Amino acid sequence: MTDRGSWSSRIGFILAASGSAVGLGNIWGFPTRVGQGGGAAFVFIYLLCIALICFPIMVSEIAIGRRTKMSPVRSFSTLKPTTYWWLVGGIGVLAGVGILSFYSVIAGWTIAYAWFSLTGQLTATQQDVSVLFAQFTSRGWVNVGLTLLVLASTATVLIGGIRTGIERVTKALMPVLIVLLVILAFRALTLPGAAEGLRYYLTPDPTRLLDISVFNSALGQAFFSLSLGMGAILTYGSYLDKRTGIAAAAIWVALLDTLIALLAGFIIFPAGFSITGFDPSTSGPGLIFAVLPRLFSELPGGEIFGATFFVLLSVAALTSTISLLEVPVSHCVDSRGWTRRRSVTTVTGIVFILAVPSALGNGSVDFFTTLPILGIDFLSLMSTIWNDFALPIGGFFTALFVGIAWGTNKALDELTLHNAWFPAKKFWKFLIRWVCPLAIALIIGATFFSLY
Ligand code: TRP
Repeated sequence: MTDRGSWSSRIGFILAASGSAVGLGNIWGFPTRVGQGGGAAFVFIYLLCIALICFPIMVSEIAIGRRTKMSPVRSFSTLKPTTYWWLVGGIGVLAGVGILSFYSVIAGWTIAYAWFSLTGQLTATQQDVSVLFAQFTSRGWVNVGLTLLVLASTATVLIGGIRTGIERVTKALMPVLIVLLVILAFRALTLPGAAEGLRYYLTPDPTRLLDISVFNSALGQAFFSLSLGMGAILTYGSYLDKRTGIAAAAIWVALLDTLIALLAGFIIFPAGFSITGFDPSTSGPGLIFAVLPRLFSELPGGEIFGATFFVLLSVAALTSTISLLEVPVSHCVDSRGWTRRRSVTTVTGIVFILAVPSALGNGSVDFFTTLPILGIDFLSLMSTIWNDFALPIGGFFTALFVGIAWGTNKALDELTLHNAWFPAKKFWKFLIRWVCPLAIALIIGATFFSLY
């Protein structure tokens, strides 16, 4: 067997997994969904999902990967040969392709916005800012080109071998990103109208706590943000040293990811509510692209601030696209015996074809902008299918796998190897065996039911 490589250290794994976790999901997805889900009610349910459902599944994924040292499909088939459990890895491979297909379109927007900031288009005329987003996203070929740029960059990194690259980029980037977010939050919180934004963000509307679509969205977002449910963290776990304690490393990743998402909310809502006539629930995917320019125009040197911010966001997106592409690519290498180069080019080609309708569906081509019968745009359709359904379903089966097929005791052996710290073992067993599968099944089931 060839040397699969490994992280240089415990901190290497934490950085790479955080690089995968922190991305557009935190800064674009989280505020967007808080807006659609009615504010603080969403935030509350989101935090519950992270703590009680996603975190137990996260340590399980890492344990499976590290036990087998293989990519997802092979991991499941190694632990339970001659069964159909490998299909759980199979869902993950498909989800990687599906998520990357729309994620790369949004990553393209952040690159364009770095350019718009630098050239002063964002900070110049305030009334143009909301129009700018609609105008820009309706320029179809520009969007397709930017998507291709994102995918080609991801593919290049993956062909060149990923591990040291991701570690280094993340190590340099994460502190800068956090500092910038804190500065922006301070400025946003001192704008007139900020108090109303804070109230919206932090005071739950009890009626929304009963809304099943808010639960479904929060669950999907929690999985998405932690890069969970499709074997990405499993794959990263397969490169992890046997001496590293899994629980402690996972807590770092989950805390960092949640902190950055919450921080993004402390920027967007205070800044948003300082704009007259702002309504977060109708802003849709353009939310941050309409609110942030307004914030940058309030800062001295706003062009530079804006450009730096969007460049950082593009790089954060790149460390995430890498982990998305890595799952289907490592699958082709392991299970089909293709070379790494052939796997990367083939998978990237498929993703690009699927990405075109998402790139053209924001005002450029009517058919993809308002799909017949469904009435939503293609990008939103992809995000619903893969985020809100495929990831939680992948997580559901991962929990079942650990709970009934592989066994919680065997998983715990891996989790506590070399006397690694692992808190509340009984509680974790209870969560993974009962709470995770039942809660996910209930939320997905009720969502399906409510569609009729
Ligand atoms: N977590 C990333 C974000 O928040 C997106 C992402 C990267 C992802 N890899 C993943 C989501 C694997 C699900 C599965 O932007």
